[in-house]
Amino acid sequence: MSIRFVIAILLSLATHPAHAEGERNELRLYMRGEFLFQNNRATCHGKTGKGDGPLAKDVPIPPRNFRDGIFKFRSTPPGFQPTDADLARTIRHGIAGSTMPIFNTLNDGEIKALILYIKAFSKRWKDPDRIAEPIAIPHVPEWFAQLATAKPHITAGKKIFTSHCATCHGNDAKGNGSAAAGLRDFAGRPIPPRPT
Ligand code: HEC
Repeated sequence: MSIRFVIAILLSLATHPAHAEGERNELRLYMRGEFLFQNNRATCHGKTGKGDGPLAKDVPIPPRNFRDGIFKFRSTPPGFQPTDADLARTIRHGIAGSTMPIFNTLNDGEIKALILYIKAFSKRWKDPDRIAEPIAIPHVPEWFAQLATAKPHITAGKKIFTSHCATCHGNDAKGNGSAAAGLRDFAGRPIPPRPT
């Protein structure tokens, strides 16, 4: 081992003790996440996160493949990764209309560990161009609270719905518009519009 190398290591230990401590903590969190994932979620999402667990082929909507690193339920714009809060919401509350369960018995530390573990499956999380702030959601306007004041907006909304949304969601919002049957997601799987 060269003396320069030894000096470099000693210097880095002397100047970055907090950094090393941070890395140890991250590793501990990752291992906790691995334990929780392999015991709770691997049955569907698969041991290697590929979405190919033993139950995966029996569920109508396939479990997410974490190796793709592509997520739907986000507060961020299209093409960007979800925030940790988005992932925590999905884990805690599940996904309505799918078999993704509600894991509301996990505590904050366990959810944090699982998020770290899930994110390690794909390189997309390391790409700064894929990280974005959530889209700002406007405040609910005052007119929304009363039916009388909301009515003109509902009428205007119906018009937009008919022209822009009904081809997929259907005129009665039952998810049966003329284009619905042919819709596919990025992996070529059928993706039905949600009924209301
Ligand atoms: C090209 C077809 C298509 C059009 C047009 C379309 N949608 Fe959708 N919409 C979908 C599909 C497919 C989904 C389900 C996506 C999923 O589950 O990943 C969806 C989901 C939604 C959801 C989310 C429901 C949920 O469970 O969270 C809302 C809200 C929505 N659409 C509203 C609209 C509105 C409003 C319009 C018109 C401005 C519209 N959509 C136009 C296909 C369409």
